[in-house]
Amino acid sequence: MNMMNLLLQWAASQLQPHVPSLTYEDIVALLELPPNPELGDVAFPCFALSRELKRAPAAIAAELAERIGAGADSGTSPTIRAEAKGPYLNLFLVREEWAPRLLAPLLLADFGQSQAGTGQRVIMDMSSPNIAKPFGVGHLRSTMIGNALAQMYRSSGYEVVTVNHIGDWGTQFGKLMEAYMRWGDEAKLKEEPIRESLRLYVRFHEEAEKDPTLEDKARHWFWKLENGDEEAHRLWRYFVSFSMEEFDRVYTRLGVRFDYTLGESFYNDKMAAVVSRLQDLQLLEESNGAQVVRLEEEGLPPCLILKSDGTTIYPTRDLATALYRKNEMGGDLLLYVVGAEQKLHFQQVFAVLKRMGEEVADQCRHLAFGLMKFEGRKMSTRRGQVIFLDEVLDEAVSKAAAIIAEKNPDLEDARDTAEAVGIGAIVFGDLLHHRMLEVDFSLDEALRFEGETGPYVQYTAARAFKLLAKGKLTLAETETRSLSGAVSGSDLGRYLSGTAAWECMKLLAAYPEAIAGALRQNEPAVVARFLLDAAKRFNRFYHQERILTENPADTEAKLLLTAAVAGVLRSGLALLGLRTPEQI
Ligand code: ARG
Repeated sequence: MNMMNLLLQWAASQLQPHVPSLTYEDIVALLELPPNPELGDVAFPCFALSRELKRAPAAIAAELAERIGAGADSGTSPTIRAEAKGPYLNLFLVREEWAPRLLAPLLLADFGQSQAGTGQRVIMDMSSPNIAKPFGVGHLRSTMIGNALAQMYRSSGYEVVTVNHIGDWGTQFGKLMEAYMRWGDEAKLKEEPIRESLRLYVRFHEEAEKDPTLEDKARHWFWKLENGDEEAHRLWRYFVSFSMEEFDRVYTRLGVRFDYTLGESFYNDKMAAVVSRLQDLQLLEESNGAQVVRLEEEGLPPCLILKSDGTTIYPTRDLATALYRKNEMGGDLLLYVVGAEQKLHFQQVFAVLKRMGEEVADQCRHLAFGLMKFEGRKMSTRRGQVIFLDEVLDEAVSKAAAIIAEKNPDLEDARDTAEAVGIGAIVFGDLLHHRMLEVDFSLDEALRFEGETGPYVQYTAARAFKLLAKGKLTLAETETRSLSGAVSGSDLGRYLSGTAAWECMKLLAAYPEAIAGALRQNEPAVVARFLLDAAKRFNRFYHQERILTENPADTEAKLLLTAAVAGVLRSGLALLGLRTPEQI
């Protein structure tokens, strides 16, 4: 149900006296927002009434139109006009009356925020790259989808705890240690930790094809690490700290921060308890020397808990992690923003939790996403065909800088603006696609200022800010102005009743619903689409009507709408993790 849309609420309250057999909520649920303004602002389909009144829907629509018309003539309902069209009753809000009421909430600084999630704590597992492997484009998706959702949950009143579940444990460290001992170079590792680690990792795989004993040596290193060997630990800390510094540089550029960075190693001392619980519950079975939980009833392959040498494995750690997030962090909802290729892993982990009788099993959601290719290139760490995120960001920023230099050669802060626009293009290009879709990312496409892009929305916002600056209206002032009546309600009605202005306001009014819809599906694309639509409607208004005119009341009314646009675009872009430069 669309409870938040003002238009629907108004239409329902006008309609209610004429259809006493339906409740207000029933009516709101039935109402539709026609895509074409000629079909009204709100439409009421009469099929539901037809069954009850045993009359054709079209006849009911015609009668309702007449009754509402009669009410308008006698002055009881002067704010709405009705037209029957087949089985639909199309309702037109009288713009002069409604424009000021529609605009007022859009100007409030907290427009779009809600308290829907009060008292609920969401734990967001996001980003989670692996130490000593590059921060790839896939981790970028997890970072940005997780970041956008975290901000939306927060703005809807949820308490959100973001966790970067760094892959800082596992057999890859054994490989890295063996490779470092053989071919490593300390100076190089300090200078370019991730590239050097990757070189070692790739070399290890090449050499291990010729000499399989390398795999055993790597396994032994990892065994030493898990069993507290001093040298193994020293090397491990060394790899972790260098990689983290490099990751942090990327996070700073992306404007993302985490409440906690708790790597997989954090759960090392918490797994024994999980294993012994599984034993007590008689869920563990031996399989080729390893310990597994069989999940035949769930139709899933067995979940590996302990390898034959007794070392723990990824699922074991995720079991301990989920229990920690529930019991120690107090999570009510545990979200995992992780690529779709890990679907089976999470199904198994959640199924084991369920077998353990843990309530948290039903509070976990894997928010999967599809692969992102970069201009047709995939990535594979093992073979070293890796696209480095920092290179992609640099390329985007320099392309953005070139476009901006051409558009606006005198821009102050051009470098910082290029950074905001270049990175914004990548982030928006990622979030615009429904997360399960595979994205083949084209940088030139994502940077087009007149496309379905982040820069288009940023540029439109900058256009709005420029108008406000010319008209000497700042965003902070708007709320008080509209309420203090420097421009009267009837002026607003008069000057904002053109179709372009009206359609723009109607769309802005749906911002809270866009956020709620995005959260229902855990899908930032809903907000990204909304922002594109809002930008398009504002640009139509901008091209069709003059905003700065000789008439102060007219100008001010239009600037207030412009301020609402600037505010909503900036707020929506911030939710998605983009900055909004006031000049581009
Ligand atoms: N580090 C893992 C990877 O890159 C992702 C971790 C996701 N989070 C989790 N709790 N398993 O594949």
